[in-house]
Amino acid sequence: MTIPKRIQELIGASLYTEDNIGMSGAGVRLYPDMVLKISPDDENARREAGVMGWLRGRLPVPEILADESEGGYRFLLMTRLPGLMLCDRTVVREPARLTGLLAEALEMVRSVDHTGCPYMADLDTELAIARRRVERGEVDTDNVDPATFGPGGFRDPEHLLSWLQKNRPSQELAFTHGDMCLPNIFTENGRIRGFIDLGGAGVADPYRDLAIARRSLHDNTDGCHGRACPGYDADALFEYLGIRPDREKIRYFTLLDELF
Ligand SMILES: Nc1ncnc2c1ncn2[C@@H]1O[C@H](COP(=O)(O)OP(=O)(O)OP(=O)(O)O)[C@@H](O)[C@H]1O
Ligand SMILES: [Mg+2]
Repeated sequence: MTIPKRIQELIGASLYTEDNIGMSGAGVRLYPDMVLKISPDDENARREAGVMGWLRGRLPVPEILADESEGGYRFLLMTRLPGLMLCDRTVVREPARLTGLLAEALEMVRSVDHTGCPYMADLDTELAIARRRVERGEVDTDNVDPATFGPGGFRDPEHLLSWLQKNRPSQELAFTHGDMCLPNIFTENGRIRGFIDLGGAGVADPYRDLAIARRSLHDNTDGCHGRACPGYDADALFEYLGIRPDREKIRYFTLLDELF
């Protein structure tokens, strides 16, 4: 893979560290003040710079310095956000504070005025993308909740997709992040500093973010990403937000995410 010339000129000979936390096949190079995200040039990667541009002035997101496509890869050069990811050990070990920050993050995203937003991520849009992914065999069934597929669960991605098509909940529309998990949210000085990984962001039901945020809070406090706080109840998130959780929507959007 060759880095496009325009990007090479901007990064010069700066040293970088590599971040492999992502699961989408993207490689991320962390420079002192910049980040170069290299991804397969798919739908998500193609949207990311556009969504981030639209969000400037509406939500704290990195500034885009260059966005190039070459050799089947997308190269997104952006400013580096300061602060810590919400999945940082020092943040997770204080679960009440973490939950407050996550609630603040959800409220910031939800209150973005989506009037005129050209990026849709509602069920018509998402189920159509899910269908293409299922048909092309792109769903990674190794990277899902072990209970989703198999005995007591769905036979395969096709079975899950047809359940999702038949059981669509009513939708309320708001701006959503699309992958509202702890490593995509930064905090500094006790506040939310910014958001990254925005390729799937767009107008959708707010439970799209609530379901993923709840699952990520659970996975990082007492689940597959660490048990820093055994027994912590991730439903505390809904108390911070002052809403009564809609279990059916949480289940629906958590299952939909298994196809992405
Ligand atoms: N602008 C940025 N500022 C600071 N850190 C960043 C920035 N962009 C990416 N990172 C770091 O790189 C990691 C991966 O980036 P990102 O989440 O955009 O990639 P991804 O591969 O799509 O992730 P995933 O597969 O987890 O959704 C982040 O969790 C973060 O640690
Ligand atoms: Mg990420």
